Amino acid sequence: MRSTAATTTGTDSASGGGVPVPSGQSAVARALAALLPDGAVVVAATEDVAGDLRPGEGESLARAVPSRVAEFATGRSCAHHALDLLGLSTATIGRGGRGEPLWPGGVVGSITHCEGLRAAAVARADDVAGLGIDAEPHLPLPEDVLDLTLTPPERRRLVELHRAVPDVAWGRVVFSLKEAVYKLWYPLRHEWLGFEEVDTVVNPDGTFTVALPRPLGVGDERVMTVHGRWAVTGGFVLTAAALDCAKQPRL
Ligand SMILES: CC(C)(COP(=O)(O)OP(=O)(O)OC[C@H]1O[C@@H](n2cnc3c(N)ncnc32)[C@H](O)[C@@H]1OP(=O)(O)O)[C@@H](O)C(=O)NCCC(=O)NCCS
Repeated sequence: MRSTAATTTGTDSASGGGVPVPSGQSAVARALAALLPDGAVVVAATEDVAGDLRPGEGESLARAVPSRVAEFATGRSCAHHALDLLGLSTATIGRGGRGEPLWPGGVVGSITHCEGLRAAAVARADDVAGLGIDAEPHLPLPEDVLDLTLTPPERRRLVELHRAVPDVAWGRVVFSLKEAVYKLWYPLRHEWLGFEEVDTVVNPDGTFTVALPRPLGVGDERVMTVHGRWAVTGGFVLTAAALDCAKQPRL
C-alpha cells in the first residue's frame, strides 16, 4: 500500500505509498504524502472550514479566540476526512491532557497547522507504529528560537548545510522536524521530550534521523532512532517522522 492525499472544498488529501491518489489534490498535500510511509493518508486544507466540530470536540475551546477555533475545527475536519479515506471513520477525535489528538483504536495520526495550511495524517497502527507531521512557513528561524531549540552540534551542522544549500531555511527545517518527532513521541510514551534531549541529523536529500534519549516500543522492539523526511514546497517547510512497522531495524 502507498500513502495518499485527498481533497474536499478548500481541502486536499494524498496518501504515501499504494492507495490511489484522488484527483484535485494540492501540491502541498502531494508533497506531504510523499514524506510519509506506505499506508498513511494525508488531508490538507489551505482555507478554514466553517463550524464543523463534532460533539465532544470543542471542550478545550471555551475561551479560544476565533482564529484558534477555526484552525482547530479545520484540523479536525482534515483528520475526519483522512479517517474516512482509511475506512476508519469515528464520531469524535478528542484531545488528551497534553494536547494530543485521541485517535480511535488501531489508528496513529498527527495534526499540524500554520498560516495558510492545516493538515492531518493518519494510518493503521498495523502499518505505521507512530506518526508526527509539522508545517512551518519557509522563513528563517529567529536567532533566539534557534538558541532555545537547537543543540550546539545541531547549530554546527547548520553551518555546513547552509554552505552546501544556501536557499533552504535549515534552522526552520530542524525546528519543524523536532516538533514532528515530539508529536510522534508523546502518544507513545506520554512524557515530555525536550528540544535539547535529541540529536538530529538532516540531509540535503530530504531525509533526517533523530537519536532519542529513551526508547520507543514498536511491537517487541525498542527503537532509539526515528527516521523522517522533509521538503520545502509552496512557501512551507513540511516534515514527517514515522515509525514504519515494516522497516524498523533490530537494535
Ligand atoms: C505540541 C507542539 C509540538 C505543537 O507544535 P506547533 O508547531 O506549536 O503547532 P502545530 O500546529 O504544528 O501542531 C498543533 C497540533 O499538535 C498536536 N499536538 C499537541 N500536543 C500534542 C502532543 N502532546 N502529542 C501529539 N500531538 C500533539 C495537536 O493536534 C495540535 O493541534 P490541535 O490542538 O488543533 O489538535 C508544540 O507546541 C510543543 O509543545 N513543542 C514542545 C515540545 C517539542 O516540540 N519538543 C521537541 C522534542 S525533539
